[in-house]
Amino acid sequence: MKVHVDRRDGLEAVADLTVSGVFERGERPEPLPRALAGEDAAVHGALREAWERREVRGRPREGWGDFRGELTVFHRPEGRGRLVLVGLGPRTRYSADRARRAAAQVVKGLQGRGARTAAFRLPTFAAEGVAAEVAARAVVDGAVLGAHEFTRYRSTTGGPIEEVAVHLGPELSGEEGTVRKAVTEEATIAETVVWTREIANLPADTTTPERLAEEARGLAKELGLKVTVFDEKALREMHCGGILAVGGGSDHPPRMIVLEYAGGSRRGRTVAIVGKGITFDSGGISIKPAPRMQDMKFDKSGAVAVLGILRAAALLKAAPKVVGVLCCAENLPGGGAYRPGDVVRTFGGKSIEILNTDAEGRVVLADGLGYVTQHYHPDEVIDVATLTGAEVVALGDDTAGLVATDEKLAQGLLAASAATGEPVWRMPLTDYHRELVRSDVADVRNSTELTVAGMLTASAFLETFVAPTPWAHLDIAGPAYTTPATRRWQPAYQNVGATGFGVRVVTRYLLDLARS
Ligand code: BES
Ligand code: MN
Ligand code: ZN
Repeated sequence: MKVHVDRRDGLEAVADLTVSGVFERGERPEPLPRALAGEDAAVHGALREAWERREVRGRPREGWGDFRGELTVFHRPEGRGRLVLVGLGPRTRYSADRARRAAAQVVKGLQGRGARTAAFRLPTFAAEGVAAEVAARAVVDGAVLGAHEFTRYRSTTGGPIEEVAVHLGPELSGEEGTVRKAVTEEATIAETVVWTREIANLPADTTTPERLAEEARGLAKELGLKVTVFDEKALREMHCGGILAVGGGSDHPPRMIVLEYAGGSRRGRTVAIVGKGITFDSGGISIKPAPRMQDMKFDKSGAVAVLGILRAAALLKAAPKVVGVLCCAENLPGGGAYRPGDVVRTFGGKSIEILNTDAEGRVVLADGLGYVTQHYHPDEVIDVATLTGAEVVALGDDTAGLVATDEKLAQGLLAASAATGEPVWRMPLTDYHRELVRSDVADVRNSTELTVAGMLTASAFLETFVAPTPWAHLDIAGPAYTTPATRRWQPAYQNVGATGFGVRVVTRYLLDLARS
C-alpha cells in the first residue's frame, strides 16, 4: 500500500474514492453541516437532497457482521471517481479509534469494486479534540490494516485499495510538517503489522521453528540486525531444557532465535522482548479437544510479533537497544514428547515440574526469559505470548492482559495502548498466585490443581525466571487472531486470522521511551 500526504483539498484530487467523515445527526431536522458544503457542490446538490431524505445519518459501523453501518457513495458527475461518506457516530463519543474503524470500513466495504486509490479529507476526521496528527495516524492505520487480507492460498483475489492519500486542504495547511511526520511513521508501523500478519497466518506445516529462524535471518540481513539461532544441539549445550522438552514430540526441532537492534541513541536503555513461538499447540500428551484446534497455528503470534517489533524499531530508528528472543517449538504428542510428571531443568538451572503438557508456553518462555536476563542484563523485559485460555475468558477476544512488576513500565505500556488503540488491561499478581505454582518436587510447577486465575498463575510462573529485572507480560491469547465467528464483532481493521497484535503497542512504547 502506498501512503502519502497531499496538500490539496481531497476534492481537487483525482482518486477513485474521495472520503469524508460524517458525524451522527440528531432526530430533529438540521441543515447539512457546513463541513460538507464542498462535497455537496462536487455532486451538484445531490448530497443535500440525500441529507434531507435522511439517507445520510452518520451512524458508525460497530461490527463486521449484520449490523448495517453507514457508507454513502456518490458518483461524481465529472467522472472524477466516487465520493464516499462514512459514519463516525456521535460527536460526543468521537475518538481516534472511531476514525481508525471508519477508514477501515471504507477500504473494506469498497474493495473489489474497482477502486484502487483513496483520498481521505483530513479536516473531516480531525475534529472534536482529535488533533490532525492523531486523526491522520488513525486513518492510515485503518486504511492499511483494513485493506489487508491473507490471500496466499487463494486462487482468486478481489482488487484491494493500493494507494491512500491524506489530504490537508487549506484548513490544515499549517499542520503539514507534523502530519507528514506522523503519516510516514504510522505507515511504516501499519505496514509492519501487515508483514507480521502474513507470517503469523502461515499454517504449521509451513511455519516450523526453523522457518521462523529463516524469517529472522532474512529480516536481520535486510535491516542490519544481529541474529543468532540456537538449534537443538546448541540448546542442549546451554541447558535450555524447557524449549527442548516442549519440542521433543515433533519432527520439526525447536529453535531459540535472538535478534539484536543496536539502538538509535548511545546511552539508551536495553529492552528485551521475548515471544512465545509455538508453531502448533496440540496440547501434547495432555492433548486438546478437536474443536477449534486449528486456531493453535496462531500460538506463535507472540514470537512473530517480536519479529515485527524489531522490524519497526529498526526502520524507525527507535532510541533503545532492543533484544528480541523467539522461543520456538512445536507441541505435539510423539515418541519423544515430554510428559506429565517430568521435571525439566531450564537455562540458569531452575527446575519445572510438568503437570500438564498443554501449559507449554510458560515452559519455553522460562528458557528465553532466563537467557535474556542473564546474558544481556536488560533494563526491562516485555514478553508477548498467547499464553492462556483464562486470559480470553477474563478479558475477551479484543483485549490483552498485562501483568507488570514495574510501575513505570506498566504505565508506559498502558499509555501506548491508549495511543494506538490496541486494548490492554492490567491484572494483579500477588503471593496467592505465587503460592499456587509452588511445586513439591521442583522449583515451580507448570499447572495447578486449583483452576482459578489461570492468567495470573501463569504470570507468577514466568516471574520466577525474570525477577528481579523489571518485567511486563502481555498475554495476547484473545486478541492475537480472529475467527470467522469473532471477526463479526471486531473493528473492520482486524481481518479474519492473525491480527499482528502487540506490534503497534510495543513499538509505540519503544518510540516513546526516548521522550520520557
Ligand atoms: N496456547 C494455549 C492458550 C490459548 C488458548 C491461546 C486459547 C489462544 C486461545 C496455551 O498453551 C494453553 O493451552 N494453555 C492452557 C493452560 C492450562 C493447561 C494450565 C489453558 O489456558 O487452558
Ligand atoms: Mn497449550
Ligand atoms: Zn500454547
